[in-house]
Amino acid sequence: MASRYPEVYAEWQANPEAFWMKAAEKIDWTQAPTKAFDAEAGVYGRWFPDAETNTCYNCLDRHVEAGRGSQTAVIYDSPMTGEKRDYSFDAVLSEVKAIAGALSDLGVGKGDRVIIYMPMIPEAVFTMLACARLGAVHSVVFGGFAAHELATRIDDCSAKVLVTASCGLEPGRTVAYKPLIDHAIEMAHHKIEKCLVLQRPELQADMHADRDVDFRTALEQARATGSAENGCVTVKATDPLYILYTSGTTGQPKGVMRDNGGHMVALQWSMENLYGMKPGEVFWAASDIGWVVGHSYIVYGPLLNGNATVIFEGKPVGTPDAGTFWRVIAEHNVSVLFTAPTAFRAIRRDDSDGEFVKKYPMPSLRTLFLAGERADPETIKWAEHHLAVPVVDHWWQTETGWAIAGNPAGLGLLPVKYGSPTHAMPGYKIEILDDAGHEVPAGTLGNIVVKLPLPPGCLTSFWNADERFRKSCLEEFPGYYKTADAGILDEEGYVFVMARTDDIINCAGHRLSTGAMEEVCAMHPDVAESAVIGVFDELKGQIPCGFLVLKANVSREAKEIEKEVVRLVREEIGPVAAFKMVMCVKRLPKTRSGKILRGTMQKIADRQEWKMPATIDDPAILDEITEALRAHGH
Ligand code: COA
Ligand code: AMP
Repeated sequence: MASRYPEVYAEWQANPEAFWMKAAEKIDWTQAPTKAFDAEAGVYGRWFPDAETNTCYNCLDRHVEAGRGSQTAVIYDSPMTGEKRDYSFDAVLSEVKAIAGALSDLGVGKGDRVIIYMPMIPEAVFTMLACARLGAVHSVVFGGFAAHELATRIDDCSAKVLVTASCGLEPGRTVAYKPLIDHAIEMAHHKIEKCLVLQRPELQADMHADRDVDFRTALEQARATGSAENGCVTVKATDPLYILYTSGTTGQPKGVMRDNGGHMVALQWSMENLYGMKPGEVFWAASDIGWVVGHSYIVYGPLLNGNATVIFEGKPVGTPDAGTFWRVIAEHNVSVLFTAPTAFRAIRRDDSDGEFVKKYPMPSLRTLFLAGERADPETIKWAEHHLAVPVVDHWWQTETGWAIAGNPAGLGLLPVKYGSPTHAMPGYKIEILDDAGHEVPAGTLGNIVVKLPLPPGCLTSFWNADERFRKSCLEEFPGYYKTADAGILDEEGYVFVMARTDDIINCAGHRLSTGAMEEVCAMHPDVAESAVIGVFDELKGQIPCGFLVLKANVSREAKEIEKEVVRLVREEIGPVAAFKMVMCVKRLPKTRSGKILRGTMQKIADRQEWKMPATIDDPAILDEITEALRAHGH
């Protein structure tokens, strides 16, 4: 059957506002929008400027009111603890109301910020929804970030309350959250008023008498006093739903801000048309709520569309084996799986012949979606072969909140070109510009940009930093959003996303800033200068690799200093930085104007062809870098 994509994309192009007004009919509003877009508002305009709504109502209450309360909404499956639990929409609503009651008892109201630092447990998702219910703004911080990163976020969004659990569970270790939280709160200049702590049976956290509140006790109280019965707080469609911090080009993370109305409209559209999901089916995004994929497609997208969502606390391999994903799909009747290519590379490495796949019949599985990093054709082909379902690569960013380009299963799949996430989704007009801002011919590599305005669901700005947003995303190519990805559009409109144009690297599907790591390297007293680049890694796609130049008077063993720097990055940014490869070198290669030649270093590390930069100061330094890399087995 021919895909309806061309006609739907053309419909959007012909009248974007009418297109999104029609999509908005799928959302329940307390005040329906009378117009789609206000070009004068916000940084680049705002969607649904006169509408009012509540996101939690749309995710939960409306399904219950429609008589679907007994349908499964959340499936928790933890190979880490052996627990499996299903929650109906009724049950989720009851928990969310109690958490909302507890939060409001702690003084949280509309517009207040709440930081959530929790592992992949149902309470994390319920807390996000509880914030939405109150019109409060959540900011989820990924559990692999260290205290300093958390403190930066507490300060940036001046959070009122922090919600956490006693621990996270990583293979082979229990990650005690509370000491880290206490340290972050102590470090932050802004003072958190209250900390709601969920005690997990695996580890009991110490509580601060005047600040910490036991999660379960607070819920019981909210139920007893009736505050758990409060309804949804009506917010403007343009009010913020959440802030999600993501890596920028410096150590200062960017607070990507998402609104309520446009976000729901876009996610609802994508669930049906991109992912091809019908209410009642099971959707599984094997990611973490700390990332954008988790926000959009573990929490909001599936619940808006009346789907059950899977909360999986485990890894693709080692918990206990490379068959875990297939077990979850088979046991919970998952229709669509969404994960990062790195997860498949990990599975393939442990089970190249797909023996585990054969153990678990998966008749429910219809499509596999991959995103977060470039999907290498070998991984796609392996998945296609063993799962025998279409594999869809789609491209998006924390900033956009949903796919910029993809292959829309709901509209009918388009022919696949390996290495390409297919076509622009309605809402996005993708162009490729050279550095001077001129459009390049089809098939030519350049800067991938999106014509403004961005569609509903995309960031409205950075939290408290409109100017930074303007400068970093909208200024370089006037009239466009700069994706900071480089790529190609071919003659048939297929987009190929090749590399970042900034210092962001993608490690195991996680977005990391090498600039932030350089800032930490520079904190070591013996380090004069450093450069961190992303080098190819078969499993994680890229891993960071640091080069250190020591101060002239340092006589200590280089190996010792390297170890200390690795420890420092782990302490400052967190284990998720995966910063383990570091080497001391005599000098860094630079241009005559003093710019470090990171691009050339990366090509040398990855054994790609490279040309001697014409502006290089001293070519001999590149030989020294090559030697250092080879000595480290790279
Ligand atoms: N809390 C605490 N620590 C965490 C953590 C968390 N939530 N998540 C990761 N870490 C730690 C890991 O334990 C590891 O620590 P270590 O250095 O002591 O081994 C470190 O951070 C690096 O983690 P990661 O890069 O994820 O490597 P890994 O070896 O643990 O796992 C994969 C590799 C490929 C299995 C894993 O990255 C994966 O499942 N990726 C899927 C990608 C994904 O979900 N992306 C989200 C966007 S779709
Ligand atoms: P994040 O904000 O963590 O989602 O990371 C976004 C970045 O990941 C993008 O800017 C791309 O560099 C990369 N990325 C995400 N999806 C893809 C994809 N399908 N193909 C290539 N790169 C991708």
